[in-house]
Amino acid sequence: MKLSYSAALASFLFFSFFFISCKSKEEKQQVLIDEAEIAPRHLRVVWAEDPSSNAVISWTTLHEHGKNHKVYFDTISKEGEKLDYAFQTLASKNGSISLVDEDFKEGVPQGYYHHADLNNLKPSTAYYFVVESDDLVSDEFYFISGPEDDSEFSVLWGGDSRMGGPEPRYAGRTPHVDRQEMNKRIKALIDEDPNIIAFIHGADYGTTADWRHLFWWFEDHEIVIGEGNRLLPLILSRGNHDMQTGFEENFWLGDTQRKRGFDYYFSTQLGSQAAMITLNTEISVAGDQRDWLEENLASKRKENKWLLVNYHRPAYPVVKDFENATFKRVRETWVPYFEKYNVDLALESDGHILKRTVPIRNNKYDETGIVYIGEGGLGVPQRVADSTRWFIQPPGFAMSAHNVQKLTFSKDFIKIKAFGMDGGILDQFEVKPRKMD
Ligand SMILES: [Fe+2]
Ligand SMILES: [Fe+2]
Repeated sequence: MKLSYSAALASFLFFSFFFISCKSKEEKQQVLIDEAEIAPRHLRVVWAEDPSSNAVISWTTLHEHGKNHKVYFDTISKEGEKLDYAFQTLASKNGSISLVDEDFKEGVPQGYYHHADLNNLKPSTAYYFVVESDDLVSDEFYFISGPEDDSEFSVLWGGDSRMGGPEPRYAGRTPHVDRQEMNKRIKALIDEDPNIIAFIHGADYGTTADWRHLFWWFEDHEIVIGEGNRLLPLILSRGNHDMQTGFEENFWLGDTQRKRGFDYYFSTQLGSQAAMITLNTEISVAGDQRDWLEENLASKRKENKWLLVNYHRPAYPVVKDFENATFKRVRETWVPYFEKYNVDLALESDGHILKRTVPIRNNKYDETGIVYIGEGGLGVPQRVADSTRWFIQPPGFAMSAHNVQKLTFSKDFIKIKAFGMDGGILDQFEVKPRKMD
């Protein structure tokens, strides 16, 4: 069965609630058992530390908790015939998504999360799969596991997909027209370039991580499904709008979380030459996280040509107050380590703008410094930069435009291209490898 679109679901829900409210308890049950609607939906693939051998497949069911949740997978397509797939694994984590009063008021359906760990994968291999919840089987999808070698690859990156669209602009919920347009852009990019291996999200998915917001984020995320039902794996970070428990229920990182709980900081190895360190600006940036950061920057720097960091709140904001305590803490706690270990590029979100800073070291322009790009435009209304800040003078810049960026990693450069909503290129530049002793 085909996963249905938001509009179809919205009308289903409207009529369901209408009918439910007029019926007895037994009749209500009958209305709720509608296979098309309790079938698995919101399928996604999440990467954490070692995507060349591990991935998490997650999905949602509506209305029923269910008992049997499973992924069937194989390295060749079985066209959805579940018993033909060579491998299967049970979801290791299932549960009821927490709903708060506003969720009920807005009529979002009860949902259940399901997460399955796929381990011992082969690198750079297409995995075809279906998920099953109580005999209801999804369409077949596929994803490609992470590379292990040093071949060229690209990732997409962007942040801030909450709000955006026609009035009421700041209600923070549907219809999210701008987010949907950006998702269409992301789909177009992945369909034209099979070398894009993952999507890195700079956080602030919805106005909150309550279900009435995440539910619609997941509905809109189905726009991103590529040709042939390709799912682009997600590398997730956590932002200041993602603090509700729904984030932890719906974004599961498998073994990374089993080891360390819901800290949401980890290092992802992308091929043999690139490490992407995801940090969490919404917990203490000092203490354990700083110690972990220094240890990982030191070890990953030795092993990789390319070392990047991704986190939500910027060290070098171009919209919000430069002296704001959170930004200052990021700048004072992490940036000295970024500089000590010569990070190649820093990815920041939260400000709702497109920026590229000059290379920065010791808080001033320095040819050997780090360039910071960001600050989030996957549909969130764009703000205006403070154009007087020294770090966005040429060759830096800032502009108000929705954007998604493509980072291409090769032996000789990282090529960065920022695309606008209509596909136009808003910025492009290259980062060269650092000369290490
Ligand atoms: Fe934010
Ligand atoms: Fe934001």
